[in-house]
Amino acid sequence: MTLIVLVSVTILFMGLSAQGQGGLKADFYSSTCPRAEAIVRSTVETHFNRDPTIAAGMLRLHFHDCFVQGCDGSVLITGASAERNALPNLGLRGFEVIDDAKTQLEALCPDVVSCADILALAARDAVDLSDGPSWSVPTGRRDGRISSSSEAANLPSPADPIATQTQKFATKGLDDHDLVTLVGGHTIGQTDCLFFRYRLYNFTATGNADPTINQAFLAQLQALCPQNGDGSKRVALDKDSQTKFDVSFFKNVQDGNGVLESDQRLWGDSATCTIVQNYAGNIRGLLGLRFDFEFPKAMIKMSSIEVKTGTQGEIRKICSKFN
Ligand code: HEM
Ligand SMILES: *[C@@H]1O[C@H](CO)[C@@H](O)[C@H](O)[C@H]1NC(C)=O
Repeated sequence: MTLIVLVSVTILFMGLSAQGQGGLKADFYSSTCPRAEAIVRSTVETHFNRDPTIAAGMLRLHFHDCFVQGCDGSVLITGASAERNALPNLGLRGFEVIDDAKTQLEALCPDVVSCADILALAARDAVDLSDGPSWSVPTGRRDGRISSSSEAANLPSPADPIATQTQKFATKGLDDHDLVTLVGGHTIGQTDCLFFRYRLYNFTATGNADPTINQAFLAQLQALCPQNGDGSKRVALDKDSQTKFDVSFFKNVQDGNGVLESDQRLWGDSATCTIVQNYAGNIRGLLGLRFDFEFPKAMIKMSSIEVKTGTQGEIRKICSKFN
């Protein structure tokens, strides 16, 4: 009896994890292009050594790819009506890293490694190089044949209330826990003043700043982003360590030092604040969740959103152009 239960639970689990990864598998290129992962890694490393902030660019590229048409490289396509031209995508960076890796992979094993997989692998390597956790990335994604800027307009916005953030993640099969965990990606990288300056001056026409901003931090942000200054000036999302993948982002959110409104709101909502507090280290042991363990799990889920496999889509020769 126990054996039968165990066996069926195991089968259920295997079924769930296979389904969760949408037909992807570990080491998909082991026979067709054994050096694929090593080439992506060394390419990301070369660019990272020149500019460590490029890691944040890699991670965000993969997130934006996955949320529109699934993780299928659609974010890499150029053209007036392509995803890349949608407002939420204008600050994306690191395209040259993906192109660099693709050029090397095409020379070694032409028409084999998808741009969608390069994005997923590069995001993993970028987090690892930033002193974050590492994980095995299931591969076998195929590149999509659709890239639409109007669809990309629905990406999460920094002004979204928690209910909207939760709902946008839920449509991608990600729950509240995944939301908080993945937004922890803001432990690295930067934002334009434009995306949060409205919090610093006359917030919601009250004449005052957003009251959830810590007073000392408010003065710093106002100095960095004057009311009529350059909206494209860059500010760290994690004021303490913008190139280090750690939990200080969550501590900052807890202390009112979150930069984006959507980040700070994670602390104001009862569904998400416990998770923030847990990652920040305050109630370690109670839920026992550790960011380093949870982030890879959530990434594998995100990396599997609506993936194309088998004979679907194509393997692009050039990541910015359909074949
Ligand atoms: C509610 C969800 C989210 C919202 C509203 C949001 C919004 C933003 C905004 C406005 C920026 C600044 C962009 C710029 O000025 O160039 C940004 C940057 C960034 N986001 Fe998110 N984000 C969300 C979730 C995520 C997730 C799930 C990840 C990854 C797992 C992520 C990773 C990043 C990274 C690494 C940066 C820095 C990029 C750079 O330095 O170039 N974000 N995000
Ligand atoms: C804040 O915005 C409102 C609405 O636009 C405006 O009426 C008010 O004068 C502004 N207050 C300040 C202090 O700028």
